[in-house]
Amino acid sequence: MIFFLYLRKFAFFSLTLRWEVRRRCPFSFCYIMMEGMVCRRDYLRLPDRRRCYEILRENQVPSHIVAHCEKVALVATFLAEALCREGEELDLALVEAGALLHDVTKHLSLKTGENHALSAASLLERLGYPQVAKVVASHIFCPPGPPGTPIREEEIVYYADKRVKHTRIVTLKERFEDLKERYGRSVSSLIRLDHLYELTRLLERRLFKKLPFGPERLLELEDG
Ligand SMILES: [Fe+2]
Repeated sequence: MIFFLYLRKFAFFSLTLRWEVRRRCPFSFCYIMMEGMVCRRDYLRLPDRRRCYEILRENQVPSHIVAHCEKVALVATFLAEALCREGEELDLALVEAGALLHDVTKHLSLKTGENHALSAASLLERLGYPQVAKVVASHIFCPPGPPGTPIREEEIVYYADKRVKHTRIVTLKERFEDLKERYGRSVSSLIRLDHLYELTRLLERRLFKKLPFGPERLLELEDG
């Protein structure tokens, strides 16, 4: 009997410790060092769809941004699944979580002027999702990987975001015209956007070289 009471106490202590470690040491390197003693697998955990929506709700993300993220997730998972069929090894849950959460701090950045890719990444690090944080951190700037290298989850989420204008799937050209209208307030920002457009076109070529259909196929997702 006393043995079972000790066992229960130990189990409760372990759970409390895990929660405390996560609460107090939100950065990934702490997870590696400290959670390793408790549960190494937790470092690799990903938020499932339900948890992603919980995070969006907890951070009071407006519904129009949630709708944008859902459309980006639709495009990103469609691409990731198609690439997996062609032999790429992509973590589909990571792609979906990255897409659903990529703009989780966008509404705040409109007031504070912060870089919303970096602030979203640091929020997700604090919540204990370093892999998703890495994908989200690259959604504003993600140059294509070298030719012949495996496609990365961040390339998919970045590209999918550049194919969704608000909640509508569009061509890369239309999306960048919209970005220029909204953010091209100076000559230097216009030059930067032109450069980004060229890089994204390279990424588009890299992705679709591996697929049996072209970029225009994504427009058909709009019809369901
Ligand atoms: Fe976005």
